[in-house]
Amino acid sequence: MPSQPNGSRTVIAILTVADQKRVFRGNKQNFIDIIRIGEELGAQVYVVTTADLKLTGDLFLAYCYDFKARKWRRSPVTMPHVIYNRVPYRKLEMLPEVQQTIQMCLKSRKVQLFNPSFFNKWSLSEWLNRSAETRRFIPVTHQLTGSRQLEQLLNDHGTVYLKPVKGKAGRGIMRLERPLRSGQPKYVLKLQDTTGSQEAVFSSIEELWPELRSEIGSKEYIVQQGIRLARYNKRPYDLRALVQKTGTGKWSVTGVGARVAGKASITTHVPRGGSINEPRRVLSSAFGPAEAESILERVKKAALKIAARIEASSGHTYGEMSMDLGVDTDGRVWFFEANAKPMKFDEPEIRRKSLERTIRYAMYLAKKNKRR
Ligand SMILES: Nc1ncnc2c1ncn2[C@@H]1O[C@H](COP(=O)(O)OP(=O)(O)O)[C@@H](O)[C@H]1O
Ligand SMILES: [Mg+2]
Repeated sequence: MPSQPNGSRTVIAILTVADQKRVFRGNKQNFIDIIRIGEELGAQVYVVTTADLKLTGDLFLAYCYDFKARKWRRSPVTMPHVIYNRVPYRKLEMLPEVQQTIQMCLKSRKVQLFNPSFFNKWSLSEWLNRSAETRRFIPVTHQLTGSRQLEQLLNDHGTVYLKPVKGKAGRGIMRLERPLRSGQPKYVLKLQDTTGSQEAVFSSIEELWPELRSEIGSKEYIVQQGIRLARYNKRPYDLRALVQKTGTGKWSVTGVGARVAGKASITTHVPRGGSINEPRRVLSSAFGPAEAESILERVKKAALKIAARIEASSGHTYGEMSMDLGVDTDGRVWFFEANAKPMKFDEPEIRRKSLERTIRYAMYLAKKNKRR
Protein backbone atom coordinates (compact mmCIF):
# COMPACT_ATOMS: atom_id res chain seq x y z
CA MET A 1 0.00 0.00 0.00
CA PRO A 2 1.16 3.53 -0.70
CA SER A 3 1.59 4.39 2.95
CA GLN A 4 4.31 1.78 3.49
CA PRO A 5 7.91 2.90 3.22
CA ASN A 6 9.33 1.57 0.02
CA GLY A 7 13.00 1.49 -0.85
CA SER A 8 12.91 1.10 -4.61
CA ARG A 9 9.86 2.99 -5.83
CA THR A 10 10.29 6.63 -6.69
CA VAL A 11 8.23 8.76 -4.35
CA ILE A 12 6.85 11.99 -5.79
CA ALA A 13 5.10 14.65 -3.72
CA ILE A 14 2.76 17.18 -5.29
CA LEU A 15 3.16 20.22 -3.09
CA THR A 16 0.22 22.51 -2.37
CA VAL A 17 -1.27 24.40 0.56
CA ALA A 18 -3.87 23.33 3.09
CA ASP A 19 -7.38 24.70 2.93
CA GLN A 20 -9.91 24.53 5.72
CA LYS A 21 -12.93 24.12 3.50
CA ARG A 22 -11.52 22.11 0.63
CA VAL A 23 -8.83 20.13 2.51
CA PHE A 24 -6.14 21.35 0.12
CA ARG A 25 -5.90 23.82 -2.74
CA GLY A 26 -5.26 23.16 -6.40
CA ASN A 27 -6.98 21.29 -9.19
CA LYS A 28 -7.87 17.93 -7.61
CA GLN A 29 -8.74 16.23 -10.88
CA ASN A 30 -5.35 17.22 -12.22
CA PHE A 31 -3.67 15.75 -9.15
CA ILE A 32 -5.68 12.51 -9.49
CA ASP A 33 -4.60 12.22 -13.14
CA ILE A 34 -0.95 12.68 -12.15
CA ILE A 35 -1.26 10.06 -9.40
CA ARG A 36 -2.87 7.59 -11.80
CA ILE A 37 -0.15 7.95 -14.43
CA GLY A 38 2.43 7.75 -11.64
CA GLU A 39 1.07 4.38 -10.59
CA GLU A 40 1.07 3.18 -14.18
CA LEU A 41 4.71 4.13 -14.52
CA GLY A 42 5.71 2.65 -11.18
CA ALA A 43 6.01 5.72 -8.97
CA GLN A 44 4.21 6.53 -5.75
CA VAL A 45 2.59 9.95 -5.92
CA TYR A 46 0.80 11.78 -3.12
CA VAL A 47 -0.35 15.32 -2.39
CA VAL A 48 1.24 17.06 0.58
CA THR A 49 0.58 20.48 2.05
CA THR A 50 3.36 22.89 2.93
CA ALA A 51 2.25 22.58 6.56
CA ASP A 52 2.60 18.78 6.64
CA LEU A 53 5.77 18.16 4.66
CA LYS A 54 8.80 17.09 6.70
CA LEU A 55 12.31 16.43 5.51
CA THR A 56 13.54 14.86 8.74
CA GLY A 57 13.15 11.31 7.50
CA ASP A 58 10.16 10.68 9.81
CA LEU A 59 6.78 9.71 8.44
CA PHE A 60 4.30 12.56 7.97
CA LEU A 61 0.70 12.86 6.84
CA ALA A 62 -0.16 13.34 3.19
CA TYR A 63 -3.14 12.78 0.90
CA CYS A 64 -3.15 9.53 -1.05
CA TYR A 65 -5.87 8.82 -3.55
CA ASP A 66 -7.89 5.65 -3.23
CA PHE A 67 -9.08 4.89 -6.78
CA LYS A 68 -11.48 2.13 -5.72
CA ALA A 69 -13.30 4.22 -3.13
CA ARG A 70 -12.72 7.43 -5.12
CA LYS A 71 -11.58 9.15 -1.97
CA TRP A 72 -8.61 11.08 -0.67
CA ARG A 73 -7.08 9.40 2.37
CA ARG A 74 -4.88 11.22 4.77
CA SER A 75 -2.18 8.70 5.64
CA PRO A 76 1.42 8.54 6.83
CA VAL A 77 4.00 8.54 4.04
CA THR A 78 7.78 8.48 3.66
CA MET A 79 9.83 11.43 2.56
CA PRO A 80 9.62 12.01 -1.23
CA HIS A 81 12.57 11.92 -3.59
CA VAL A 82 11.08 14.65 -5.73
CA ILE A 83 8.69 17.52 -5.04
CA TYR A 84 6.52 19.00 -7.77
CA ASN A 85 5.41 22.47 -6.69
CA ARG A 86 1.76 23.09 -7.57
CA VAL A 87 0.88 25.83 -5.06
CA PRO A 88 -1.83 27.35 -7.23
CA TYR A 89 -1.69 31.12 -6.64
CA ARG A 90 0.98 33.75 -6.31
CA LYS A 91 -0.55 35.11 -3.14
CA LEU A 92 -0.43 31.68 -1.49
CA GLU A 93 3.08 31.02 -2.70
CA MET A 94 4.26 34.29 -1.19
CA LEU A 95 2.93 33.50 2.30
CA PRO A 96 5.87 33.32 4.74
CA GLU A 97 5.04 29.81 5.91
CA VAL A 98 4.78 28.59 2.31
CA GLN A 99 8.04 30.31 1.36
CA GLN A 100 9.71 28.71 4.34
CA THR A 101 8.78 25.21 3.15
CA ILE A 102 9.84 25.91 -0.44
CA GLN A 103 13.19 27.35 0.71
CA MET A 104 13.71 24.36 2.99
CA CYS A 105 13.18 22.03 0.01
CA LEU A 106 15.51 24.04 -2.23
CA LYS A 107 18.26 23.94 0.39
CA SER A 108 17.86 20.28 1.23
CA ARG A 109 20.06 17.76 -0.51
CA LYS A 110 17.64 14.97 0.32
CA VAL A 111 14.93 16.10 -2.07
CA GLN A 112 14.71 17.73 -5.49
CA LEU A 113 12.04 20.37 -5.91
CA PHE A 114 11.09 21.62 -9.34
CA ASN A 115 9.10 24.68 -10.46
CA PRO A 116 9.85 26.69 -7.28
CA SER A 117 7.89 29.80 -8.23
CA PHE A 118 5.68 31.73 -10.60
CA PHE A 119 7.27 34.00 -13.18
CA ASN A 120 6.95 37.75 -13.37
CA LYS A 121 6.39 39.30 -16.81
CA TRP A 122 9.02 41.98 -16.33
CA SER A 123 11.75 39.54 -15.25
CA LEU A 124 10.89 37.29 -18.17
CA SER A 125 11.37 40.04 -20.72
CA GLU A 126 14.62 41.14 -19.06
CA TRP A 127 16.02 37.62 -18.98
CA LEU A 128 15.11 36.93 -22.58
CA ASN A 129 16.35 40.30 -23.83
CA ARG A 130 19.81 39.62 -22.46
CA SER A 131 20.43 36.76 -24.86
CA ALA A 132 20.86 37.26 -28.61
CA GLU A 133 19.19 33.88 -29.17
CA THR A 134 15.91 34.90 -27.56
CA ARG A 135 15.86 38.72 -27.87
CA ARG A 136 14.25 38.66 -31.31
CA PHE A 137 11.08 37.06 -29.95
CA ILE A 138 10.41 39.76 -27.35
CA PRO A 139 8.22 42.77 -28.17
CA VAL A 140 9.69 46.07 -26.95
CA THR A 141 8.84 46.09 -23.25
CA HIS A 142 9.33 48.64 -20.46
CA GLN A 143 8.23 49.05 -16.90
CA LEU A 144 5.43 51.60 -17.01
CA THR A 145 6.74 54.81 -15.48
CA GLY A 146 4.83 57.80 -16.78
CA SER A 147 2.64 59.48 -19.35
CA ARG A 148 5.50 60.80 -21.51
CA GLN A 149 7.05 57.37 -21.80
CA LEU A 150 3.65 56.00 -22.76
CA GLU A 151 3.15 58.64 -25.41
CA GLN A 152 6.60 57.96 -26.84
CA LEU A 153 5.94 54.23 -27.09
CA LEU A 154 2.57 54.89 -28.64
CA ASN A 155 4.25 57.09 -31.26
CA ASP A 156 6.76 54.35 -31.99
CA HIS A 157 4.35 51.44 -32.20
CA GLY A 158 0.81 52.76 -32.79
CA THR A 159 -0.60 50.25 -30.31
CA VAL A 160 0.68 49.21 -26.89
CA TYR A 161 -0.40 46.63 -24.35
CA LEU A 162 -0.39 47.40 -20.65
CA LYS A 163 -0.11 44.35 -18.44
CA PRO A 164 0.28 43.72 -14.72
CA VAL A 165 3.63 41.94 -14.19
CA LYS A 166 1.96 39.42 -11.93
CA GLY A 167 -1.23 39.09 -13.93
CA LYS A 168 -2.88 36.07 -15.41
CA ALA A 169 -5.90 35.07 -17.43
CA GLY A 170 -6.13 38.50 -19.01
CA ARG A 171 -6.90 40.28 -15.75
CA GLY A 172 -5.93 43.95 -15.81
CA ILE A 173 -4.75 43.90 -19.42
CA MET A 174 -5.36 47.07 -21.43
CA ARG A 175 -4.72 47.98 -25.01
CA LEU A 176 -4.05 51.54 -25.98
CA GLU A 177 -4.30 52.60 -29.60
CA ARG A 178 -3.76 55.78 -31.47
CA PRO A 179 -5.60 55.39 -34.73
CA LEU A 180 -4.37 57.85 -37.31
CA ARG A 181 -7.63 59.42 -38.35
CA SER A 182 -8.45 62.89 -39.65
CA GLY A 183 -5.47 64.54 -38.00
CA GLN A 184 -7.12 64.72 -34.58
CA PRO A 185 -5.15 62.92 -31.88
CA LYS A 186 -7.38 60.32 -30.32
CA TYR A 187 -6.50 57.68 -27.80
CA VAL A 188 -8.59 54.54 -27.60
CA LEU A 189 -8.21 52.52 -24.42
CA LYS A 190 -9.61 49.01 -24.28
CA LEU A 191 -9.87 47.28 -20.98
CA GLN A 192 -10.29 43.56 -20.54
CA ASP A 193 -12.78 42.57 -17.88
CA THR A 194 -14.77 39.46 -17.07
CA THR A 195 -17.64 40.25 -19.39
CA GLY A 196 -15.66 41.39 -22.39
CA SER A 197 -13.82 44.57 -23.09
CA GLN A 198 -14.75 48.16 -22.35
CA GLU A 199 -13.65 51.02 -24.51
CA ALA A 200 -12.93 54.64 -23.67
CA VAL A 201 -11.78 57.42 -25.97
CA PHE A 202 -9.58 60.35 -24.93
CA SER A 203 -8.38 63.38 -26.83
CA SER A 204 -5.02 63.71 -25.09
CA ILE A 205 -2.61 61.72 -23.01
CA GLU A 206 -3.13 64.18 -20.13
CA GLU A 207 -6.81 63.34 -20.14
CA LEU A 208 -6.15 59.62 -20.34
CA TRP A 209 -3.41 59.32 -17.73
CA PRO A 210 -5.50 59.80 -14.53
CA GLU A 211 -8.01 57.21 -15.78
CA LEU A 212 -5.22 54.79 -16.44
CA ARG A 213 -3.65 55.43 -13.05
CA SER A 214 -6.86 54.70 -11.22
CA GLU A 215 -7.26 51.49 -13.19
CA ILE A 216 -3.69 50.43 -12.38
CA GLY A 217 -3.81 51.33 -8.70
CA SER A 218 -0.71 50.18 -6.89
CA LYS A 219 0.03 47.29 -9.22
CA GLU A 220 3.28 47.01 -11.11
CA TYR A 221 2.73 47.24 -14.87
CA ILE A 222 4.68 46.75 -18.05
CA VAL A 223 3.96 48.52 -21.30
CA GLN A 224 4.62 46.55 -24.42
CA GLN A 225 4.71 47.04 -28.18
CA GLY A 226 1.41 45.80 -29.62
CA ILE A 227 1.85 42.96 -32.07
CA ARG A 228 -0.47 42.78 -35.08
CA LEU A 229 -1.53 39.21 -34.64
CA ALA A 230 -2.46 37.02 -37.58
CA ARG A 231 -6.17 36.26 -37.72
CA TYR A 232 -8.48 33.32 -38.18
CA ASN A 233 -12.08 34.07 -39.12
CA LYS A 234 -11.17 37.73 -38.54
CA ARG A 235 -10.20 37.06 -34.94
CA PRO A 236 -6.68 37.21 -33.53
CA TYR A 237 -5.24 34.04 -32.06
CA ASP A 238 -2.13 32.96 -30.29
CA LEU A 239 -0.35 29.70 -29.81
CA ARG A 240 0.06 28.05 -26.47
CA ALA A 241 3.03 25.73 -26.24
CA LEU A 242 3.60 23.24 -23.46
CA VAL A 243 7.32 22.73 -22.95
CA GLN A 244 8.48 20.01 -20.59
CA LYS A 245 11.60 18.13 -19.72
CA THR A 246 11.70 14.51 -20.75
CA GLY A 247 12.81 11.39 -18.90
CA THR A 248 16.39 12.31 -19.79
CA GLY A 249 16.07 15.85 -18.51
CA LYS A 250 16.00 17.60 -21.90
CA TRP A 251 13.52 20.32 -22.83
CA SER A 252 10.98 19.19 -25.41
CA VAL A 253 7.74 20.61 -26.82
CA THR A 254 4.90 18.38 -25.64
CA GLY A 255 2.29 20.10 -27.75
CA VAL A 256 1.06 23.35 -29.23
CA GLY A 257 -2.55 24.51 -29.18
CA ALA A 258 -4.18 27.55 -30.73
CA ARG A 259 -6.44 29.94 -28.79
CA VAL A 260 -8.66 32.16 -30.90
CA ALA A 261 -9.92 35.39 -29.28
CA GLY A 262 -13.57 35.73 -28.42
CA LYS A 263 -15.66 38.42 -30.07
CA ALA A 264 -14.84 41.81 -28.51
CA SER A 265 -11.96 40.46 -26.47
CA ILE A 266 -8.42 41.81 -26.55
CA THR A 267 -6.98 38.52 -25.30
CA THR A 268 -7.47 34.89 -26.31
CA HIS A 269 -8.33 33.33 -22.94
CA VAL A 270 -10.96 30.60 -23.12
CA PRO A 271 -12.81 31.79 -19.98
CA ARG A 272 -13.18 35.16 -21.75
CA GLY A 273 -14.85 33.73 -24.80
CA GLY A 274 -11.76 32.43 -26.58
CA SER A 275 -11.85 29.04 -28.24
CA ILE A 276 -9.49 26.14 -28.78
CA ASN A 277 -8.33 25.27 -32.25
CA GLU A 278 -5.70 23.40 -34.23
CA PRO A 279 -2.50 25.39 -34.86
CA ARG A 280 -2.20 24.00 -38.38
CA ARG A 281 -5.72 25.02 -39.26
CA VAL A 282 -5.51 28.57 -37.97
CA LEU A 283 -2.04 29.16 -39.41
CA SER A 284 -3.01 27.72 -42.81
CA SER A 285 -5.94 30.08 -43.18
CA ALA A 286 -3.66 33.11 -43.49
CA PHE A 287 -0.36 31.58 -44.60
CA GLY A 288 -1.25 28.42 -46.54
CA PRO A 289 -0.33 24.88 -45.45
CA ALA A 290 3.37 24.91 -46.37
CA GLU A 291 4.13 28.21 -44.65
CA ALA A 292 1.98 27.13 -41.69
CA GLU A 293 4.20 24.09 -41.24
CA SER A 294 7.34 26.20 -41.30
CA ILE A 295 5.90 28.72 -38.81
CA LEU A 296 4.96 25.89 -36.47
CA GLU A 297 8.51 24.57 -36.64
CA ARG A 298 9.84 28.02 -35.80
CA VAL A 299 7.41 28.29 -32.92
CA LYS A 300 8.69 25.01 -31.47
CA LYS A 301 12.33 25.97 -31.87
CA ALA A 302 11.67 29.35 -30.26
CA ALA A 303 9.83 27.70 -27.35
CA LEU A 304 12.79 25.40 -26.64
CA LYS A 305 15.33 28.21 -26.69
CA ILE A 306 13.11 30.38 -24.52
CA ALA A 307 12.49 27.63 -21.94
CA ALA A 308 16.20 26.90 -21.59
CA ARG A 309 16.97 30.61 -21.27
CA ILE A 310 14.28 31.24 -18.66
CA GLU A 311 15.42 28.32 -16.56
CA ALA A 312 19.07 29.34 -16.73
CA SER A 313 18.25 32.95 -15.80
CA SER A 314 16.00 31.93 -12.92
CA GLY A 315 18.79 29.96 -11.29
CA HIS A 316 16.32 27.20 -10.39
CA THR A 317 15.11 23.88 -11.72
CA TYR A 318 12.00 23.85 -13.85
CA GLY A 319 10.46 20.72 -15.34
CA GLU A 320 7.75 22.37 -17.36
CA MET A 321 6.23 25.66 -18.41
CA SER A 322 3.55 26.79 -20.80
CA MET A 323 4.12 29.69 -23.16
CA ASP A 324 1.93 32.17 -24.96
CA LEU A 325 3.38 32.90 -28.37
CA GLY A 326 2.00 35.17 -31.05
CA VAL A 327 2.40 35.03 -34.80
CA ASP A 328 2.12 38.40 -36.53
CA THR A 329 0.66 39.11 -39.95
CA ASP A 330 4.13 38.62 -41.51
CA GLY A 331 4.51 35.19 -39.92
CA ARG A 332 7.01 36.36 -37.32
CA VAL A 333 6.97 34.60 -33.95
CA TRP A 334 6.64 36.61 -30.70
CA PHE A 335 6.80 35.66 -27.05
CA PHE A 336 4.15 37.07 -24.65
CA GLU A 337 4.68 35.14 -21.46
CA ALA A 338 5.53 31.86 -19.80
CA ASN A 339 3.67 30.24 -16.95
CA ALA A 340 5.38 28.05 -14.37
CA LYS A 341 2.12 26.45 -13.27
CA PRO A 342 0.63 25.45 -16.60
CA MET A 343 -3.08 24.82 -16.71
CA LYS A 344 -4.41 21.54 -18.05
CA PHE A 345 -4.34 21.36 -21.84
CA ASP A 346 -7.74 20.24 -23.08
CA GLU A 347 -6.34 18.59 -26.20
CA PRO A 348 -6.41 14.86 -25.19
CA GLU A 349 -3.11 13.93 -26.89
CA ILE A 350 -1.22 16.80 -25.30
CA ARG A 351 -2.85 16.02 -21.97
CA ARG A 352 -1.83 12.37 -21.87
CA LYS A 353 1.71 13.08 -23.00
CA SER A 354 2.10 15.90 -20.50
CA LEU A 355 1.16 13.68 -17.54
CA GLU A 356 3.64 11.01 -18.61
CA ARG A 357 6.37 13.56 -19.01
CA THR A 358 5.79 15.04 -15.58
CA ILE A 359 6.23 11.59 -14.03
CA ARG A 360 9.16 10.55 -16.23
CA TYR A 361 10.98 13.78 -15.50
CA ALA A 362 10.35 13.39 -11.77
CA MET A 363 11.73 9.85 -11.96
CA TYR A 364 14.79 11.14 -13.79
CA LEU A 365 15.35 13.78 -11.09
CA ALA A 366 14.99 11.11 -8.41
CA LYS A 367 17.69 9.02 -10.04
CA LYS A 368 20.04 11.98 -10.01
CA ASN A 369 19.28 12.46 -6.33
CA LYS A 370 22.20 11.43 -4.14
CA ARG A 371 19.95 9.72 -1.62
CA ARG A 372 19.09 6.90 -4.03
N1 LIG B 1 2.14 42.91 -26.90
C1 LIG B 1 1.02 42.29 -27.31
N2 LIG B 1 0.56 42.44 -28.58
C2 LIG B 1 -0.57 41.80 -29.00
N3 LIG B 1 -1.30 40.99 -28.22
C3 LIG B 1 -0.90 40.79 -26.94
C4 LIG B 1 0.28 41.43 -26.43
N4 LIG B 1 0.43 41.05 -25.14
C5 LIG B 1 -0.60 40.22 -24.87
N5 LIG B 1 -1.40 40.06 -25.94
C6 LIG B 1 -2.61 39.19 -26.01
O1 LIG B 1 -3.15 39.09 -24.70
C7 LIG B 1 -3.03 37.75 -24.23
C8 LIG B 1 -2.71 37.75 -22.75
O2 LIG B 1 -1.45 38.28 -22.53
P1 LIG B 1 -0.44 37.58 -21.55
O3 LIG B 1 0.84 38.31 -21.61
O4 LIG B 1 -0.41 36.11 -21.83
O5 LIG B 1 -1.12 37.87 -20.13
P2 LIG B 1 -1.95 36.93 -19.11
O6 LIG B 1 -0.99 36.61 -18.02
O7 LIG B 1 -3.07 37.75 -18.60
O8 LIG B 1 -2.37 35.70 -19.84
C9 LIG B 1 -1.97 37.10 -25.09
O9 LIG B 1 -2.14 35.71 -25.11
C10 LIG B 1 -2.22 37.78 -26.42
O10 LIG B 1 -3.32 37.21 -27.10
MG1 LIG C 1 -1.26 34.40 -20.92
